[in-house]
Amino acid sequence: MKVIVTGGAGYIGSVATERLLAQGHTVAVYDNLYMGHREAVPSDATFVEGDLSDRGKLQDLFQDFRPDGVLHFASHTMVGESMDHPFLYLGDNVRNALNLLEVMLENGTNRIILSSTANLFDQPERMPISETERIVPGSPYGESKYIIERIFYWLHRTRGLRYACLRYFNASGATKERGEDRDPETHLIPLVLQVALGKREKFSIFGNDYDTPDGTCVRDFIHIADLADAHILALEKLSEVPEMTFNLGNGRGFSILEVIEMARKITGHPIPVEFGPRRPGDPGTLIADSSKARAELGWKPQYDSLESIVRSAYEWHAAHPDGY
Ligand SMILES: NC(=O)c1ccc[n+]([C@@H]2O[C@H](COP(=O)([O-])OP(=O)(O)OC[C@H]3O[C@@H](n4cnc5c(N)ncnc54)[C@H](O)[C@@H]3O)[C@@H](O)[C@H]2O)c1
Repeated sequence: MKVIVTGGAGYIGSVATERLLAQGHTVAVYDNLYMGHREAVPSDATFVEGDLSDRGKLQDLFQDFRPDGVLHFASHTMVGESMDHPFLYLGDNVRNALNLLEVMLENGTNRIILSSTANLFDQPERMPISETERIVPGSPYGESKYIIERIFYWLHRTRGLRYACLRYFNASGATKERGEDRDPETHLIPLVLQVALGKREKFSIFGNDYDTPDGTCVRDFIHIADLADAHILALEKLSEVPEMTFNLGNGRGFSILEVIEMARKITGHPIPVEFGPRRPGDPGTLIADSSKARAELGWKPQYDSLESIVRSAYEWHAAHPDGY
């Protein structure tokens, strides 16, 4: 297949590009490098630096490249930022997706995979969380993803769009060549590893009075290579099934303290922690039920132990102490 990867210079998109190329597909990455890194884009991919708001540039890309499908990663991605700057999310994220969809459909490409999020499930009634859980977005970020999911639904009914919404839980880990390098960094594992690598003195844990075994939040971590593979399986499956939604996680929860303990074991560093108050809006436990993706896509996560996730991230950060 010929695939356009928006946001393919970012953390997850660059690994999806790596895995697509490894499986023999042809890839063009479209990214404005707002958060991503040119160095993260595999050399066998075509790279176009551009913003999703630039319809002319998108048109040129679709006309030149003539893709069979699109993986849509490019987005503003931070829950906290979305509370402070809702228009970046309810505005830019949604408008950019609409631009992309219009240009795609005008050029005869009708398959797309969306990076959606567990932030759709702010008040889950059942754990683990399946695709039938009620949707309660936890922030303008989550809401923007849900609005895009609904736009997909209507474009399926009116314009023949074929789509899959993949709602990821916590993407984590690294491949040999590609890892997590953001500024500012807000994700647990890279922040913990920054302490182990001497870049930060200690790690702050928000809340240790949750109703969980050790009082800290429990989260579901999924390795980015497994996540990337689910995208490729979903894109292939769209030729048979025109609309799909999957929750993607490990199916197992690990507490913040368990992650830190694993990082201590792997790095040999004591990783001091301090406890602070809960962060508003953080649910105690979030675990995905990914049995639908396993059954319907034949998806088999390969790196599902906490050790393999934290170890792969550590190896990448140790080899790239200053990022890309
Ligand atoms: N990291 C996670 O745990 C997680 C969880 C759930 C969902 N997601 C979603 O997965 C996707 C990828 O996340 P990530 O962690 O790789 O983030 P990232 O910030 O590393 O990657 C996003 C990429 O999109 C690019 N981009 C942003 N706005 C753009 C625009 N207007 N035009 C062109 N390029 C633009 C950025 O430069 C960056 O390279 C996002 O849509 C995010 O919301 C991530």
